[in-house]
Amino acid sequence: MSISQTRSVENKPTSDTLPAVPLFDNRRQFRELEAELLAAVTRVSQSGQYVMGPDCQQLEQRLAEFCRVPHALGCASGSDALLLALMALDVGPGDEVILPSYTFFATASCVSRLGAKPVFVDIDPESFNLDPRAIEPAITSNTKAIIPVHLYGQCSDMTAIANIARPRSLPVIEDACQAIGAELYGRRAGELGDMGCFSFYPTKNLGCFGDGGLITTVEDKLAERLKLLRAHGMQPRYYHQVIGINSRLDSIQAAVLNVKLGYLDAWTMARAERAHQYVELCRDAGLDRIVSLPIVQPGRRHVWNQYVIRVPDGRRDELRAYLSERKIGTEIYYPVPLHRQQCYADLGYGEGSLPETERAARETLALPIFPELTESEQQRVVDEMANFFGCRRTATVGKPHFISLASRAEIRTAP
Ligand SMILES: Cc1ncc(COP(=O)(O)O)c(C=O)c1O
Repeated sequence: MSISQTRSVENKPTSDTLPAVPLFDNRRQFRELEAELLAAVTRVSQSGQYVMGPDCQQLEQRLAEFCRVPHALGCASGSDALLLALMALDVGPGDEVILPSYTFFATASCVSRLGAKPVFVDIDPESFNLDPRAIEPAITSNTKAIIPVHLYGQCSDMTAIANIARPRSLPVIEDACQAIGAELYGRRAGELGDMGCFSFYPTKNLGCFGDGGLITTVEDKLAERLKLLRAHGMQPRYYHQVIGINSRLDSIQAAVLNVKLGYLDAWTMARAERAHQYVELCRDAGLDRIVSLPIVQPGRRHVWNQYVIRVPDGRRDELRAYLSERKIGTEIYYPVPLHRQQCYADLGYGEGSLPETERAARETLALPIFPELTESEQQRVVDEMANFFGCRRTATVGKPHFISLASRAEIRTAP
């Protein structure tokens, strides 16, 4: 072997020398905003007002404007937001609540915690959101509410859901934990149902330094009841009208969120650019003919909390392991749908009872997406997927990748 040949072998990047591509890295966001965030935390620390202080009120006001609703109420987490919403409707033993099974556990556990029964329905395979056609057959005289989830950052078909719910006076609670800023025909997540529930868990598009949540509503009466319920049902102090819970937003979290809220639209745009970039890169590599890329449905502003593809032919786990060996982070949201979880075995949903939900659990894979993800990192993700499937890339080198989507209302991709 000649010296030059030896060198080229030595210099060839291997999976050991290539940098890792994380699924998500919130330290990058922190580094960019470090001074501003630390100043906000210091200010609250010095103020001594640690629970529901002025920062919370300011945040609630700004988020009400952002979600275009009259009321936005902070609470301790997205899980609590859902629990409080059901408590405000007096959901309890003997009641049923209709919801998708393909979601995070908290969408259903809030129902069970109140002694009511979750009634799981199937999803629309295109959007992964609750299939409105599955709702009507699931309604009984015990049905008390419907919880659509705007999964991965895309709104459910709230028009079809409202058409079923409204004539029956069934309240609709949006689980918008993954969908802050998402829109359906110009209307925002949080203003589309009777109440909207949001999470500020650090992986969310607007994430704090721990747990935090929010409930939105357009109804004054619900807002008053939620305020009471999140603070032990106490009004005035030490007089308890109803049995509530302790679920308040810490002032430090509110201060952090007040800083970050100013950047949310730019971050959402950056996520959309990266989603668009995946489409371009996957098309260049011929991967769009092998895996199914996410679809943005008509009238939606998708906020891309997750970028989730479908991998056919039972190869999802193999692809995930291949990427993991090459230090590329991925995740499966969600490997076991809720109706098949051990804790819900007594509800009696057998295998195959919700076929689209179960197929999604077998096929879906979330790829890295966050505002600070670089072009070269995204290129690596797609190159490694192309290697796995034996695709050959058509030239993308030198192309301007991150096209500004400022004028683009939505991106639609072929299945
Ligand atoms: C769809 C959905 N619902 C509810 C929750 C619960 O939110 P939190 O983690 O803030 O309690 C989450 C958060 O992961 C979620 O993704």
